This record gives sequence, C-alpha cells and structure tokens, in this order.
Amino acid sequence: MSPLTRRQLLALGAVGVGAAAAGAGGLWWTSGGGVTRGGGRGLVQPEVLASRDGVLDLALEAAPARVRIGAREASVQAFNGSLPGPTLRVRGGDTVRVAMTNGLETPTNLHVHGLHVSPENNGDNPFVSIDPGESFDYEYVLPQDHPPGTYWYHPHKHGHVADQIAAGLYGTIVVEDPDPVPVARERVLVVSDITLDGSGNLAEVSPRQRMIGREGETVLVNGQVRPEADAAPGERELWRVVNACPSRYLSLTLDGQDLRLLARDVGRLPEPVDVTEVTLAPGNRVELLVDTREGTSTLRATPVERGSMDTMMGGATPGDGPGNDEPIDLLILEVAGDPAGEAGPVPAGPALRDLRDEPVAARRTIDFAMGMGMGDRMGRMRGPGQMMSFTIDGREFDAERTDQRGRVGTVEEWILTNSSPMDHPMHLHVWPMQVVIDGGSDVSVPRWQDVVNIPAFGEVTVRVAFEDFDGRTVYHCHILDHEDLGMMGTIEVR
Ligand code: C2O
Ligand code: CU
Ligand code: CU
Repeated sequence: MSPLTRRQLLALGAVGVGAAAAGAGGLWWTSGGGVTRGGGRGLVQPEVLASRDGVLDLALEAAPARVRIGAREASVQAFNGSLPGPTLRVRGGDTVRVAMTNGLETPTNLHVHGLHVSPENNGDNPFVSIDPGESFDYEYVLPQDHPPGTYWYHPHKHGHVADQIAAGLYGTIVVEDPDPVPVARERVLVVSDITLDGSGNLAEVSPRQRMIGREGETVLVNGQVRPEADAAPGERELWRVVNACPSRYLSLTLDGQDLRLLARDVGRLPEPVDVTEVTLAPGNRVELLVDTREGTSTLRATPVERGSMDTMMGGATPGDGPGNDEPIDLLILEVAGDPAGEAGPVPAGPALRDLRDEPVAARRTIDFAMGMGMGDRMGRMRGPGQMMSFTIDGREFDAERTDQRGRVGTVEEWILTNSSPMDHPMHLHVWPMQVVIDGGSDVSVPRWQDVVNIPAFGEVTVRVAFEDFDGRTVYHCHILDHEDLGMMGTIEVR
C-alpha cells in the first residue's frame, strides 16, 4: 500500500486512523510517534529502562527493523526494534549488564560513549567483535562518583560503525544527577540522520560520501521527522540532546525561548550559561534548560562549515564539502495555556576540576591527516588516487598495534593537530578531556568534553587524567566514516 499523506490523514480525522489503516498491520503507529490532538505528531520519548537497587540488567538486540519515518515505512536497523533504542537511566555506583545479541548480517559490538568505566574484558571493550547470530554479555561498573550527564551507546566494530549508526543503531544513557535541577519535565532528544531510497531501504553510500563523511537526507529527532512538543508558559524543561549523526555537525537555535547550557558531554556546569546557539560535533551531547515563553518556537539546525576536499582531490568540483546549506527544522515547541508558577533558581553545581592546577607527566602531539591513498579500503574502490587515506600520525588503524602508552595516575597534555582541509572531531574513550587551548587562546573556565573538534589546519590542546582504570582502548575521529576508513589509534594505560 502507498503511504498516506498528511492531508489524507487529516481528511480521515486523526483519531481512529490507526484502525482505519489496519491494512498496515498496526505498524502504522508503532514507531515514529502517535497522533496527538489536532492531528500533529507528538514528540515521543524512547522507552526508559532504569536501574533498581544498583543494578540494570537488560538485553539489547541489534537487528533489522521496520519502522515508520515521516510519511513512509522504512527498513532500518535498530536496538530492540525501536529507533532510537531504549534510554538507560543509571546512577554512580551502578552495575549495568547488557546481554547483546547480533541479529545483523555484519559483525558488531557495543560501546557506551562517554561513560567512565573499564575498557577491559567484558567492559567497554572496543576490540570485542560479535558475529552475526552471536551474543556477548557486557558488564559496566560505574564509579560511585561517576559524573552525571547524558551519554549514549552505539556499535563500535571497526569498518561498520558509520553504516550501523546511520542505519539506526543508537540510544541514550542518562547518569542521574544526585542533586538534580528541578524541572517540570525532561526530554531526551536524539538527533540522527538517515537516507532512504524510493522503497524505504537504506540508500547506498558512495566512496565520495564516505570520504567527506555522509550526511543523511532526513534529519530525525527520536526517529521522528519534525515532531511537536507542548508546554505551558513559565515551565522549565531539561533537554538532553545527543548528536547521533555519523558526520553532521549541528548548530542549534530555539527562537523565542530562553536557553541555558547546563552541561556539555560530561558532568554539569556549576552555573548554567545563557546561550542563543550551541554547536555539537558528531558524538557531542548538551543539556539545555528551556524556560518556556508563550509562542511557537522551532529547534533549528543551521549548517556548520567543516571544510572540504577541494584542495586534495585533483580536479575536484568546487564546493566539494558535505553540501548541506539549508537550515533544518528539527522540532516545533508549542507553548500555550495557563502560565505555570515560577520555576525558581537553579541550584549551583559542584566546581569543576581544573587540570591546569595539576602537574603534567607527559606531552604528546597527535596529528590527524588525509592523504592520497591507493584506494581499496573495504574493497569498494580501486584505482590510484581515488580513495583518500585517513590517518593519525601517518598511520591507519591497526587493532594489534599500540600507538600510545600512558600511566595510571598521571595527567597528560595532548596537542591535537589537523593537517587536513576538513575538521575532525576527536574522541577518546574512558577518560574525558579538558580543553585548555582552543583557537589559539586559553580557555578560561574548565571545559570538559569527550569529543573535541580539531578545525581544518588548526589545533587544540587538551589535558587528560588517566585514572581509576587501566586498560587498552581507542581514540578516533567521530566522523564515523573517517574512523571506519582508518582514523583511529590505540592507547594502553597501565
Ligand atoms: Cu561514540 Cu569511539 O565512539
Ligand atoms: Cu566513545
Ligand atoms: Cu575526520
């Protein structure tokens, strides 16, 4: 059957359409949001799985799924059949056990992005590979003082990461704040992008798109196309925004509302900061406080300049970048009705640690580069000069090689340089980074992130405290096509 248009839906009368469209086998309304009053598409929150008595036990299956995206039925890949997968809510000190099953046709694994947990054995181990049809039992033990915040999970099997995330495999992890900011409600907003072909299947990705870093045609919030949310004036909401796009940067604005940044990636800021715009590289998260004012507002993503391959591809067409030049409306916020009472002040959070006050045991420079490769990575492209190489310190990823060795209990300073014409968002597993020099100048207040953008031909300096865990893990570009093409290194900390 052909998808109903919005006009047809309205003509049918929104309520009861589920029954009228029974031919869709009930699939019609199971994902991507139900019908709310007025026939709009209400923002749906992913299912929540919360820990109890210090434990969260769950099963996750990565498998093909049929979901509804906008006006179409789509064949995607999802955790437990929904896109995004369930939201996991845990606390410092918790043990999280995930029985992960691979129902895909390609190998996969699971990564808990941003969590400060052991990378060894069946912890957050990026070297695990789960073959199709196989399962693996992960166990993550969060330290008692784990920073609160919004984190996420996604597959991390080298060579398949971008494809699997672009297909729909991601979900949110919330580490509860022991002293939460009082809000009328919280919303998880997982922003992702996807490209479907005419029959609703995942579109092919060209080698060129992989080199640039694919950007999906349709940008989703919680798997929905431009959903709508309601609030009363004078309410305070907490928005947990995850950039789950494989390559797309998001510059977010919300016109007509008072917006404050409460957290970026890790922990929370001592005081929320007034913002009008906030930029997320792939993998970044922000927590935003929205103090609502009457009216209709749009959460909008404005394109971000992240460089191009112009200067590298001989005879390349001008404008050889991602080519996203239109702002995208992500979400409509409708604020109406009786005003709520005053939300009250936001209690101050704990002061942030500042590694600039601590001795530095080692300094390293790590260079991200693109070169002209011979081009047969992943068997997709052959012939000299067609496929570029994506390297860190001149080398492509090799899981067997250890690129950096550090010592537990030390602080290091890393100068991250980029000798290529495209930005690379650098991500380190397990240990968060404090950005100390950015754009050539000192960062005044402590700024903690787990994905740090290194601008084209630029550099950024971070400090890292290697503590609590030892083990071997990875750092990489979070433009996941670049990671799959080789822009990843290994680090062993003992
Ligand atoms: Cu979000 Cu190593 O990844
Ligand atoms: Cu990660
Ligand atoms: Cu990159």
